[in-house]
Amino acid sequence: MTHVVTSPCVDMKYQECVAVCPVEAFREAPTYLVIDPDECIDCGACITECPVDAIFDEFDVPEEENEWIERNEKESPDLPVAEGDSPVLG
Ligand code: F3S
Repeated sequence: MTHVVTSPCVDMKYQECVAVCPVEAFREAPTYLVIDPDECIDCGACITECPVDAIFDEFDVPEEENEWIERNEKESPDLPVAEGDSPVLG
């Protein structure tokens, strides 16, 4: 099980989520973040931190956002660990 960042993050990148993650599970793409499912411990702390409600438990992802489950998993290995200090885009 993991948590997933979905499309509302794109071009927002508030990064409030990074500060509360106890295991550095967030990975940084140029305009959004994803969560590495191999790192996520399912604490759920990040869900309520996101101002645009982009983060879901993988079993609660809205159907129209389902592609992001695979995107988080597939993109994470090629992306750097998010430090939470990049410019906010939104
Ligand atoms: Fe994105 Fe929300 Fe985090 S906009 S960077 S998932 S706080």
